[in-house]
Amino acid sequence: MLMRLSQEYFPLLIILFIKLKIIKTLEDFHKTRSAYGQISFIPTMGNLHNGHLSLFNTAKKLNKPIFSSIYINPLQFNNKNDFTKYPKSLDEDIELLESQDCECLFLPDESILENLEIIKAPSKADLLCGSHRPGHFDGVLTIVNKLFSIMKPSDAVFGLKDYQQYLLIKEFSQSRKLPINIIGSKTIRENNGLAMSSRNTLLSSDELQNASEIYKSLLFIKNNANNLCKDIIDEVRKSLYKKGFEVDYVSVINSITLQESLNHNNEEGYLVAAIAANIGTVRLIDNLFI
Ligand code: PAF
Repeated sequence: MLMRLSQEYFPLLIILFIKLKIIKTLEDFHKTRSAYGQISFIPTMGNLHNGHLSLFNTAKKLNKPIFSSIYINPLQFNNKNDFTKYPKSLDEDIELLESQDCECLFLPDESILENLEIIKAPSKADLLCGSHRPGHFDGVLTIVNKLFSIMKPSDAVFGLKDYQQYLLIKEFSQSRKLPINIIGSKTIRENNGLAMSSRNTLLSSDELQNASEIYKSLLFIKNNANNLCKDIIDEVRKSLYKKGFEVDYVSVINSITLQESLNHNNEEGYLVAAIAANIGTVRLIDNLFI
């Protein structure tokens, strides 16, 4: 009896214990990919944290095998130091991907940069983060386009913390008529409100506490939604400076045009409060829909 049961359940047991497929070469990837139909895709630069888990939770609802990639894309760093010190934790990342029932992890090497179509991001990319990181979104769109062409996903999930990135990828995908559903996944926060980010691991415990001021500032703007004016934005900027932040921007923008907009004026889209600020050498961004 026991023998029969174990024979019946043997294939099931194999499926349960099949490990995450980790693939490093394009050739191997194509072989693996051809065994699947539709897939959902979560591109990352590694150093995975609970914020990434929300991307997986979003993808799981789509009921398709989840493929992910880890590649620290040099094209999107305009500061060499920022690139070299970008946190890496591959072993932990793999454990986390296994726990999330991720089917396949693609770990491309530098050959992914060969025969690249360089994408020039539209003018929206020069606003907000783009104005402080020239060329950043060209680099993001270039690598995401390459990954899309390799993965051929039917859905791709991105974090809404990087709202400008999400919007640019969504519009890029629409402009190219790519058959990919671009999904934004909501920002996950620490208990003190700080948006989860791979860069948080670069902060000391005092800085981690202080970093929650960014979220508090966004809430302050949101709470003043009915009488937003330049003075309120200036007050927030000054208060962040006093608390030791080097502020790149504090803005209220339209969610579609990304242009500054302090009141809704019956425009299409929503108002979004957005902040980018540096603590020491660590650059943090966050936003809140108003
Ligand atoms: O958001 C990120 O982690 C990166 O910008 C992405 C989308 C993986 C492209 O390198």
